[in-house]
Amino acid sequence: MENTIIWESPSNIALIKYWGKMGVQLPCNPSLSMSLKESVSRFELTYSPKKAGEPDLIYAFEGKENKAFEKKLSKFIAAVSNDVPCVTKYQLKISSSNTFPHSAGIASSASAMSALALCLCSMQEAIDEMEMPKDFFLKKASEMARLGSGSASRSLFGEYVIWGDLEGLSNSSNYFAIPYEKTIHPIFENLQDTILMIDSSPKKVSSTAGHELMNDHPYADARFKQARQNMADLIDVLANGDFNRFIQIVENEALSLHALMMSSNPSYTLFKPNTLIAIERIKDFRNKTGLPIAFTLDAGPNIHLLYPKAEEKLVQSFIKQEIVELLEDGVYIQDGMGNGPKRIK
Ligand code: PMV
Repeated sequence: MENTIIWESPSNIALIKYWGKMGVQLPCNPSLSMSLKESVSRFELTYSPKKAGEPDLIYAFEGKENKAFEKKLSKFIAAVSNDVPCVTKYQLKISSSNTFPHSAGIASSASAMSALALCLCSMQEAIDEMEMPKDFFLKKASEMARLGSGSASRSLFGEYVIWGDLEGLSNSSNYFAIPYEKTIHPIFENLQDTILMIDSSPKKVSSTAGHELMNDHPYADARFKQARQNMADLIDVLANGDFNRFIQIVENEALSLHALMMSSNPSYTLFKPNTLIAIERIKDFRNKTGLPIAFTLDAGPNIHLLYPKAEEKLVQSFIKQEIVELLEDGVYIQDGMGNGPKRIK
């Protein structure tokens, strides 16, 4: 007996950043992200009863063996085996691919870990011959995905998503993410995200190591306080449509994240010279035109340019004229707000 499950799950970009963790992958402050539409991972899971002498997991990335990632997935599967006990009795064959280019420098752990968590929850349902209520299913998958990568907990839902205990939001939790269901002003619906590829080489310092450096960071307490204030302000802004304030908050979050890396001990920079040049050009262009565009950064040198769909043409021509020359091989990816994961099979 063999059965196959396929899920596609998106990457997400944080507007309020998660940086610093405690306990078992629990965040030191709540974060808020936007799920993407085009940047997704597709996971295909085929399972059959375990036979003696055969490996528990066989993994391929885009058709090729990838032992380093296979090890990461094995560790993840062991970590969630209490949530989905079926994994101990079956051999898992997993193959995955990303819609975004492999070298694009987009963090794929959020899309990958959320897609795998979904496959494993669906497998448990199939084996138990029962369907979990949808809300429960997604909450469970989010909680599991969190153990693979904190930001992955947010990829289980579409549009805006919150992860972490937040005063005044009674269903928010450090253990799983929830869809953001407060009022959204039309200017923030269907936000576009153009990802500017400044440099795609592997990071010198992993996010795991970066989070760890927050443990005795001199600015840690101030940072967690700042994130909570920015979150409260952003919630107001998402409702009232004040794009200028949105720009201030989102850019403050991005630059604070990188400032924390620069002031860690040891310090490091993930910025590249072209990241700063592009940021200056974005600011000049915004000052000249008054257009509503904001930038944000992940833990890396690439820039996410956020703007309403209505400004797409003007922003695209700005990118072509002033930004493309700063990008690795001139590459940028057109993305935007998405609706969350999709079951394919
Ligand atoms: O999910 P992790 O452990 O890779 O951490 C992600 C941290 C940031 O991407 C920098 C911020 C965030 O909230 O996604």
